[in-house]
Amino acid sequence: MSSRNIWTHKGTFLLAAVGSAVGLGNLWRFPYLTGENGGGAFILVYAMTIAIVGIPILIAETLIGRASRKSPIMGMKYLTETHGVHKAWRSIGWMGASAAFIILSFYSVIAGWALHYAGLMFSGSLVGADATAISASFDALLASPALLVLYHTIFIAVSGLIVGMGIHKGIESGLRFMMPALFLILLVVLVYALMVGDAGAALSFLFTFNLQDLSLEGWLQAMGQSFFTLSLGMGAIMAYGAYMSSEASLTRTAISIALVDTVIALMAGVAIFALVFGSGLEAGQGPGLMFVTLPIAFAELPGGAFLGGVFFLLVIGAALTSAISLVEPVAAWLVERFGFSRPKAVALMVTCCWALGLVTAFSFNIWAEGTFTQRWFNRSPFDVLEFITNILMPVGGLLIALFAGWALSRDEVLREMATHAGWFRVWQFLVRFVAPTGVAFVFLRTIPQIEGNLLPAVLALLMIGAFSAGRVFLVRS
Ligand code: PFF
Repeated sequence: MSSRNIWTHKGTFLLAAVGSAVGLGNLWRFPYLTGENGGGAFILVYAMTIAIVGIPILIAETLIGRASRKSPIMGMKYLTETHGVHKAWRSIGWMGASAAFIILSFYSVIAGWALHYAGLMFSGSLVGADATAISASFDALLASPALLVLYHTIFIAVSGLIVGMGIHKGIESGLRFMMPALFLILLVVLVYALMVGDAGAALSFLFTFNLQDLSLEGWLQAMGQSFFTLSLGMGAIMAYGAYMSSEASLTRTAISIALVDTVIALMAGVAIFALVFGSGLEAGQGPGLMFVTLPIAFAELPGGAFLGGVFFLLVIGAALTSAISLVEPVAAWLVERFGFSRPKAVALMVTCCWALGLVTAFSFNIWAEGTFTQRWFNRSPFDVLEFITNILMPVGGLLIALFAGWALSRDEVLREMATHAGWFRVWQFLVRFVAPTGVAFVFLRTIPQIEGNLLPAVLALLMIGAFSAGRVFLVRS
């Protein structure tokens, strides 16, 4: 492979992977899940899962990308051929790319909400507004298909523009400018929150570990979140790993990504809860924590309009660096498989993804009721899409762990990891046994949510999965 397709610097993969990892998952989902699940206990389980399941799979996914030096779909084809293992393992590439495609379609719509809020904050239109008015304004946003589509279009177009410019001029240059800027903004927001908010209450909420507070559902959500936040199982890390310098250490890089991602989620958590508690508001507000509760806090704090605007810029930027990692797996595949130019591949990917995003945008208004998904599955179309990714993500992670742990040759893995035999054995044990068990657990979390007509489909999927897994292990072509 030519050096054109390797990151310019040894450390760029780390920057890109952190850009992918840090996003709505850290700033929006982590705080609200922590709030809903009682604080410290949730964080403890989340951190444990990152350490024993997240990091090993992160190493495995990067390793697969770097060993193949291709997009996830073509890379898995190449690795199964060169290792003489069953074709079914290729599903890792296909599932990853499909999950990335679906996630980007709704991620872009939600990131679009932040665009709207940055505008509302900077224009000062929320200053002094009361809770009822702010929550009504969120409802009004969701009720407007035109606004949702407008913001979604802007967000996904900018993501596409960056990726379309290439991995060096677009992704690398963009990240080198955006990542430090985002970190700086987060620091500013944190300092502001500590000054005007209730830091003591925030810290004791986040760091009082009381495991009894945590329901089984909370345990499982913490595990699911550790996957989402590290961008695992969706081909994004694999696609970036394909461009990683052979000299960079897999283990050290993966640990750094996980550490930075966790520290940023915690910083965001402290800032958000200090502001929320400082304004006498509640932590357990669910998904509305960022778009309703936080704006209420900003509305009444000194300088809140400006700082609120800055905060939503941070959300947009962090979501953008994640979104570009979701464009890459499919776009790179279109380039490799069909020989498209990069701009053409990205334009095609982004246009299709934009169209699928309309399904999410309409799910909050014109399709909120009465579509076939409600009739058949009792869920909105958006919920069905999210549900599909909730299945694809852990299954993808599970297969990645098994593939790296069992199917790849020991020599190749040892060469890629270039680490002490002791560390290698720890990692191998984790990806062979611990991570798959953990992931199976996360997967089961979706089972109680399965209603009516979905059950046969999921059971069929499980049976096909078990059957193919059996063949995969037994047949070496
Ligand atoms: N890790 C991102 C976040 O925390 O917001 C979301 C994400 C990005 C998930 C890229 C998956 C992915 F491939």
